[in-house]
Amino acid sequence: MLDFHSHFLPGIDDGADSLDCSLEMLDLYVKQGVDALVATPHYYDTDETVNRFLSRRDKAYDKLMFELAKNGKEYPQIVLGAEVALSTDIAKNIDLEKLCIGQSNAILIELPYTGYFEWMTYEIYDIISKRKLHPVLAHFERFCNKKNISKFENLLSLDVSVQINADSFLDGRAYKTVKHLVKNNNFDVLGSDAHNITDRRSNFPGAVKKIQKKYGEEFLSQIDNKARKIIGVNK
Ligand SMILES: [Fe+2]
Repeated sequence: MLDFHSHFLPGIDDGADSLDCSLEMLDLYVKQGVDALVATPHYYDTDETVNRFLSRRDKAYDKLMFELAKNGKEYPQIVLGAEVALSTDIAKNIDLEKLCIGQSNAILIELPYTGYFEWMTYEIYDIISKRKLHPVLAHFERFCNKKNISKFENLLSLDVSVQINADSFLDGRAYKTVKHLVKNNNFDVLGSDAHNITDRRSNFPGAVKKIQKKYGEEFLSQIDNKARKIIGVNK
């Protein structure tokens, strides 16, 4: 399986706080059968420039790669990306393309936790039409529920993909929203959104088991294939 959303790079955001933690997270991913994962540290355009962020991200990545090469450990294929916070001006950011995942035009976008506002749809629309990028909405289930999802209709009608967190398949309350999204074909890719190996560890196997049980093996492989296609990663 491919994990579309993870904070395993060392010391760059609220994810892995040390090289050891990163290595333990990668060990866990290997045990959990994750063969490819996207590094998605948080990016906030209100805090720093894209270039400054990329230089920090690449340093963290190089540090991790050096350690992995040194100890000859097995680890999943890593694709670099970011979790980009949607802001009112993000579509105008001249370096936005640099935050895409790997060589693809897919960009992981985190909506604000303010409830729905119309500007969000306009901003996503601009990212698609003016920047020619493909937004993937990070853990979309966190922003909506069965009652307010109609507010997001216009946003979901755009050419976007929806990422759901593995944890949300295992949490009774969140799963109600997830069920609704799956039923309405608004589930495209799965991510662990893991930040460490304790309270925010990857729950990939639990989610995979539940998806297999509730929606079948074929659906699970469709989801995995879709994720790979979006960012051009083969099995
Ligand atoms: Fe995240």
